[in-house]
Amino acid sequence: MIAVDAILQELEAALAEAQTPDQVEQVRVRFLGRKGKITLLGKETDFRSLSAEERRQFGSQLNELKRQAEEKIAAALADRRHKATQMAALAARARLDLTLPATDRRLGALHPISLVQMELEAIFEGMGFMVLTGPEVETEYYNFDALNIPPDHPARDMQDTFWLEGGYILRTHTSANQVRALEKYGAPIRAIFPGRCFRYEAMDASHENTFYQLEGLVVDRDISVANLIAVMKALLGEVFGREVTVRLRPGFFPFVEPGFELDQECPFCDGQGCSVCKHTGWIELIPCGLVHPKVLEAGRVDPEKFSGFAFGMGMTRLAMLKFGIPDIRLFNSGDLRFCEQFPVVL
Ligand code: DAH
Repeated sequence: MIAVDAILQELEAALAEAQTPDQVEQVRVRFLGRKGKITLLGKETDFRSLSAEERRQFGSQLNELKRQAEEKIAAALADRRHKATQMAALAARARLDLTLPATDRRLGALHPISLVQMELEAIFEGMGFMVLTGPEVETEYYNFDALNIPPDHPARDMQDTFWLEGGYILRTHTSANQVRALEKYGAPIRAIFPGRCFRYEAMDASHENTFYQLEGLVVDRDISVANLIAVMKALLGEVFGREVTVRLRPGFFPFVEPGFELDQECPFCDGQGCSVCKHTGWIELIPCGLVHPKVLEAGRVDPEKFSGFAFGMGMTRLAMLKFGIPDIRLFNSGDLRFCEQFPVVL
């Protein structure tokens, strides 16, 4: 009589396509509304042509069909409402408002001294050097005596010292690390000592009471000036990104013999003369020399068997040269705008 199964199948197919509560409502209207497919079944059937038994059967079939249809529609409606709430909650959580001001993500920057130090450490590590540090509050012994600078030696006056109580000082140079390292590691040794040094100085554009040096020490058998020059040229070649020309002039430092001033041909004018090299064509860059036998002895290394070279670079000065920084006082100014200018190339 009534194709109950076919109609229910049709209903199910329609409900499966209904994604939202509204669309389910539209399906309900199509089947159970005033002009709905199921409703019309009851209205359009000519009951007079049916027997009493057939009418009873028809009536119960129609009721059953309505009941099942309502049940399916109600279930679909509940399901789509639930999904709609979930979607709304998700959307609320994930809402992205591109017009809101962005969170401040300041990355910070490395201080130019740190940049230079990191670069130098990487270069020296590549040549097999250890990177060591020592105390900033130092004894007179390691800063002066062990380096062949006796109490009455004028070299102590050359370096104006901050004296502390108890015989301590603020180290005036990173050379103070040399004998400490020899005592600890003996020979052979290849090490650099980057660090902060202090001198009681009046400050101006090129003088600071607090600055950075990078000391180097190589002790081994048969070390000569040729090794010193080779290492310095390799180093400066890396720093300036090309082969550099250097020259040695005699220089006096009690802890080296012979002692030198190593000059580099001015990288800004290729030796032609400019304001950076004060029109000499050369830049005085690295004091150095062959380690004095007395220093080796202080470090309990036999000068008959071993020899070495040492150098003391001014890292602050190198940073000024490399980045074209005109005033040394900028380094310790604490002004972040200063740091933020330097490119980090790691
Ligand atoms: N310590 C010296 C200074 O601060 C620099 C120096 C000179 C270090 C010669 C050395 C060296 O290792 O061999 O003026």
